[in-house]
Amino acid sequence: MDLHARQILDSRGNPTIEIEMKGKNGISIGHAPAGASTGANEAIEKRDGGKSYFGKSVMENVKLVNGELNQKVKQFNGNWQEYEAWIISENKNNRLGGNTTTALSIAGSKHYASEKNQPFHQWMHEMYCPNEKYILPVPFFNIINGGKHAGNNLAIQEYMLVPTGAESFSQALEYGSEIYHTLKQILAKKYGPTSTNVGDEGGFALPEGDVFKPLELILMAAEQIGLKDKISLAIDAAATSFFADGKYMVSNKQLSTMELAEVYKKMTKDYPIISLEDPFEENDMVGFNHLTSQIGNKVQIVGDDILCTNEHLVQKALDAKACNALLLKVNQAGTVSQSLNASKLAHKNNWSVMVSHRSGETEDPFISELAVGINSRQIKSGAPARAERTAKYNQLLRIEERLAQSDNTPFEYAGRNFRKI
Ligand code: PGA
Ligand code: ZN
Repeated sequence: MDLHARQILDSRGNPTIEIEMKGKNGISIGHAPAGASTGANEAIEKRDGGKSYFGKSVMENVKLVNGELNQKVKQFNGNWQEYEAWIISENKNNRLGGNTTTALSIAGSKHYASEKNQPFHQWMHEMYCPNEKYILPVPFFNIINGGKHAGNNLAIQEYMLVPTGAESFSQALEYGSEIYHTLKQILAKKYGPTSTNVGDEGGFALPEGDVFKPLELILMAAEQIGLKDKISLAIDAAATSFFADGKYMVSNKQLSTMELAEVYKKMTKDYPIISLEDPFEENDMVGFNHLTSQIGNKVQIVGDDILCTNEHLVQKALDAKACNALLLKVNQAGTVSQSLNASKLAHKNNWSVMVSHRSGETEDPFISELAVGINSRQIKSGAPARAERTAKYNQLLRIEERLAQSDNTPFEYAGRNFRKI
């Protein structure tokens, strides 16, 4: 085994680390994505500071990998679990940073799959859920952007279109793309052509402050092309980003926790919403618990910032009955195995798991392989547009085709069973 790192750019144009691991079957590559609406308990990135790239360079990390870590890895002949444990042991006092551990872990995990001559999703599936049928995840397409991902007045960060009524992943992608383009026309007519400019995840950043309006507009687009009964809706409020001084700032009003809960209840009553992510800020356990107990049986309440893909925080949320689904982001945990610890605990307790990209992404479709590998049944990777987003959806098309071509591998599209464990 041999390591080589370099600095590359992510989708927002910020530097990030790329790590290659060379083995007998070729080179396996790992990248670190980056969030904008980050949780306080996420693995901490390490950046150089100083002048280069306004302090965001990762050249110190690159040097560490190419020097000291490569020397150590050359002597290493342990298995995948031992490799993962080694990364954690090297990261004492955050010496490497969560960005470096993420890239090391993804490169290494791909390497161990390649040693077995298996595609990553197959290698992971045999390890994580060997007796289960393969499930292609339902895509959650974020087609209207607000919050920290857009420059508009929309408090809610993500409005997602979910093709639960499609028959296959490829049909889901087709529905997603058709509705995205129809919505674009509707917005251009209603708000003018600049309203179709997009945010960080490829969704339209329209000049709108009313948090209900995007739901109506997406349904209108779906209805116009006869797909209304094929789709559901979801939001990621990322509420930490509009919380200040004990209040939530929504549509120019300051709301208490309970007032905001009423907004969500009305939304889920009036619209076909199946999933609410981060409806409250990350310490508002009262809000999370209230919403989960009131509507958690019909709507999944997804924890992102409150869980940070951390098994201890999942346990805490289980004890507090705060939510019923985990958002899985590998770079929040810092390694693949730590994120799997969180998802195993979630699955064991009948939570659902949604594998997620970050708003600052790269072209690597690793999360698609991971989502199929752990039968997460759900994935979110932004709009069905922009190469760093479509890279993930396109990889799922390839996996779907591969599974369809292999006679003895049963598989299905999660569809309306997106929550079944
Ligand atoms: P982030 O956004 O990558 O900026 O954190 C994604 C999310 O909040 O789910
Ligand atoms: Zn989120």
